[in-house]
Amino acid sequence: MKGRDVKPGPALSRYVTGIRPYDAVSSLDKIAAKPEQTPFKLDWNESTIPPSPTVIAAINRFLSNSHHLNWYPDLYSRRLLVALGEYVGISPDHLLVTNGSDDALELVCKTYLDPDDQVVVPSPTYTHFLVFAGARGAQILNVYAENPFVHNLDGILRAIHYTTKLVYLVNPNNPTGLMYSEEDVRTLLTAAPNALVIVDEAYYEFAGKSVAHLVQEYTNLVVTRTFSKSFGIAGLRIGYAIGAPELIEDLKRVFNPKSVNVLGQVAAEAALGDKDYLKAYVDEVTDAKVQMVNYFRRRGLQCRTTPANYVLLRIHDPRRFCALLEHEGVYIRDRSSMRQMQHYVRISVGTIAQTEEILNRIGRVLDKMPYAVS
Ligand SMILES: Cc1ncc(COP(=O)(O)O)c(C=O)c1O
Repeated sequence: MKGRDVKPGPALSRYVTGIRPYDAVSSLDKIAAKPEQTPFKLDWNESTIPPSPTVIAAINRFLSNSHHLNWYPDLYSRRLLVALGEYVGISPDHLLVTNGSDDALELVCKTYLDPDDQVVVPSPTYTHFLVFAGARGAQILNVYAENPFVHNLDGILRAIHYTTKLVYLVNPNNPTGLMYSEEDVRTLLTAAPNALVIVDEAYYEFAGKSVAHLVQEYTNLVVTRTFSKSFGIAGLRIGYAIGAPELIEDLKRVFNPKSVNVLGQVAAEAALGDKDYLKAYVDEVTDAKVQMVNYFRRRGLQCRTTPANYVLLRIHDPRRFCALLEHEGVYIRDRSSMRQMQHYVRISVGTIAQTEEILNRIGRVLDKMPYAVS
């Protein structure tokens, strides 16, 4: 047909042409293909258990009103905001509930970035943010230390100039687990008064440390968090931003107030009401991390723990290891193609009982392959 190889439709934004669709390798299809096997989905750091029974009860109650799905959600999640204010220990005008914390990250980029703005990103890190910044035409300056597991505050400070617009710090970092102290974050905030510093605390509940309270002191700080990891509602997409009230108002300029779904709002509010469940899960993960790391070390492997809900394992042939584990119904994340992450796989950690079974399955795979890294 004439003109068949001419790409139809409007031209892409010039900032998007260099970005390829996110190669989302979720294990969900593979899990669905093997209904007879109990799966362990350890590739995206979600919670490994369902949310609190209180959450399920709240969703069921909510659904029993026949109108609750055909109406739009509560704009700005006002009920959830009140519960969240208590949880964070800050007044609700410092908070914005978003459609997952990815949405908060994207919103910050949409609100603050112009083409060619400079964004400083300590790396390797959570790559999704790079798409949001890249799509705004920003110049991304990845800052690599010689050793990705060693703090590099000086390197980050050297990369920051008076023209720097954003600094994106994941704390604790995904995948390295590196965690910067409150003092370090204060140093960054002071060194970059013209820049907005994003501290991504997706793994806050596991790490137990936060810089969120600093938003009352620094107007150039925004902290993002999520209900996807420790609260067990990744599928309902709830995240939030914490910042000075003026900053939250600025984010609302482009925020779509209808974008946070009703079931997510109800579930998140209920989840905040069951702190015992949250604590029990976080404590289990903390113990299970030790169990996992000790197991690998006993087998002579290098395994790094992190303050989050995952460990990093160094293995000879990550691709084969992951493939063999898939046969066992264990789905982990091969991170070896990332710069400085050669040989590393990332494994999410769940409960003690789950970890026992996971390690049985991993043991069977290790028995079949040479795994030492030369
Ligand atoms: C560092 C980091 N930030 C943000 C996210 C996204 O979380 P959410 O489900 O809230 O969009 C993830 C998920 O893996 C993450 O690791």
